[in-house]
Amino acid sequence: GRQGFAIAQAAIDAGADVTLIAGIVSIAPPVGATLIDITHAHSLYEAVMAHARDSDALIMAAAVADFRPSETSDQKLKKSDDPLSLPLTQNPDILLALAQQAQRPQITVGFAAESQDVIENAQDKLARKKLDMIVANDITAPDAGFGVVTNRVHLITAEGVTSLPLLTKTEVAARIISWLTQRLTPNDH
Ligand code: CTP
Repeated sequence: GRQGFAIAQAAIDAGADVTLIAGIVSIAPPVGATLIDITHAHSLYEAVMAHARDSDALIMAAAVADFRPSETSDQKLKKSDDPLSLPLTQNPDILLALAQQAQRPQITVGFAAESQDVIENAQDKLARKKLDMIVANDITAPDAGFGVVTNRVHLITAEGVTSLPLLTKTEVAARIISWLTQRLTPNDH
């Protein structure tokens, strides 16, 4: 969404080669990124895995659906008087799968969408998914996160928590990329 696109734009502006893996969104992608369209959590998984090993950094801003319907139907589901139950299957956790691989980007940044105990829950994800930084936000705030142009986030690393004020998503993106450029050690290419 908007936050992911703003991060891609900030990385392009900082001189990075950017591959932007995104689902269907209603805003225009930044010019200058290599675009990869995905439609399902599984195609996101495959695209991330295919590109992660050749990338210096991965930033996962996608709000991935945790579950998918276990069965799909080619036909319309007709209504009936019986209660409808839809069995769900859990989608693979992409960052967790990557944390278990030897070949990983030098830096991995995740997001944490939380509705309670924001910092504690995000710190748990930081450790569990072996991230270098997690960007945590409270999704219950009306002026931040989903569907709006502003965000209020905490940047959390093993070293500590930096709580930012309400900023535009462009400004949040600049803070993330600035942290990233300081942390990345230059490599040979
Ligand atoms: N994520 C992922 N694969 C998934 C779900 C989430 O890689 N199947 C990534 C998100 O892109 C984000 C981070 O994991 O960078 C945290 O996502 P979030 O939705 O906050 O948490 P979950 O790990 O799904 O945990 P929960 O829903 O239990 O809070």
